[in-house]
Amino acid sequence: MAKVAVLGHGVVGSGVVELFHKNKDSIEARAGQHMEVKYILDIRDFPDLPYHDKFTKDFQLILNDPEITVVAEVMGGLSPAFEYVKSLLEHGKSVVTSNKELVAEKGALLLHIAKEHNVNFFFEASVGGGIPIIRPMHQCLAANEITEIAGILNGTTNFILTKMIHDQMSFDDALKMAQELGYAERNPAADVEGRDTCRKICILASLAFGSHVYPNTVYTEGITNLTLEDVAYAEDWGGVIKLIGRAKKLPDGKLTAGVFPAFIGEHSQLANIDDVFNGVLIRGDATGDVVFYGRGAGKFPTASAVVADMIDVAKANTTSKSLSWEDSAENHVVDIQTVPFSFYLRFCSERGDECEAQLRELFPDSTWLARKKQPENEWAFITPVMTGLELQERLARLDEADQLLNRIRLLDY
Ligand code: HSE
Repeated sequence: MAKVAVLGHGVVGSGVVELFHKNKDSIEARAGQHMEVKYILDIRDFPDLPYHDKFTKDFQLILNDPEITVVAEVMGGLSPAFEYVKSLLEHGKSVVTSNKELVAEKGALLLHIAKEHNVNFFFEASVGGGIPIIRPMHQCLAANEITEIAGILNGTTNFILTKMIHDQMSFDDALKMAQELGYAERNPAADVEGRDTCRKICILASLAFGSHVYPNTVYTEGITNLTLEDVAYAEDWGGVIKLIGRAKKLPDGKLTAGVFPAFIGEHSQLANIDDVFNGVLIRGDATGDVVFYGRGAGKFPTASAVVADMIDVAKANTTSKSLSWEDSAENHVVDIQTVPFSFYLRFCSERGDECEAQLRELFPDSTWLARKKQPENEWAFITPVMTGLELQERLARLDEADQLLNRIRLLDY
């Protein structure tokens, strides 16, 4: 018999408890034992729920109950989640979590503590919602050297972009809908500014490359600057704009990692991943490209991954020694400005033809784009491959009257 506790009864937490009761028989059959939710920790009361008697506000009760062997942390945020998880592992209890921020910031440390205390710390739900990605990467792709990861890792922003592109819905209305559907973070700025994607690519990169990639070392840009004009130019180029989290191993062993909106060719496997769906492309030296696809956010998809981890912990007789990574040096991730890309650039200028002539001179061999209702003094084109530093140098030669309206990297997957 495994007695478990759930920390947090928000969207994911309530999904975990409901799923536990809905599929109790098959969950127990797969775990090979009875499993019972003994406590649910939340600062709120839920008197109308059939399992209202399980709620507690006292974390110490859970920590000091020897019957509790598995705890699901689904509160989100760093504090008090970090303090709670650390204490639980130190008290010999295994923890599973959906908390991306916690794993991205403290993963190396918590995995180390788990190993020391001979318990498990699992986090399948922290990336890709219901998509199995952590375990397949760690186990099924174990024979590969992973060289590159690129993914649409945030359901909310992918949902917003899809609604904007296909339904001409405004950014605000699409975000509101994503919040109502339970996709967005408590503070949706983390979604639209790319921080949620950043945490997820950090987790995947840490796992793939074996040393911790900290979010503050990863260049992060969200979707708040994107306009329907950029979308139209992307279509003329032959693709779409997606928010991508990407990490790649460089020949010297360092990494490039970044989160940014990117032009993706229409034939890319990532181009048709729409709505709340996530897609993650893993490039292995033996497998080539492997793509994982599914619902990346929402109550039950995420709860599905949390409960699966709880089943695995209940079944495990030993600590998973191989699910871990080392801490890393500060300069482990290179400055994205030194990494070469092709760029989409969009300008407008009161200088008219003069500006266009200078752009053509500064950026020879570019591919020029067009859109419906394109104003005479607006230009958009794709540059040849260059570093961000080289781009900056060329842009500095333009007149003050010339306005760079947007700059978006191209990716080729
Ligand atoms: N806010 C996140 C998303 C939730 O939209 O993908 C799942 O991590």
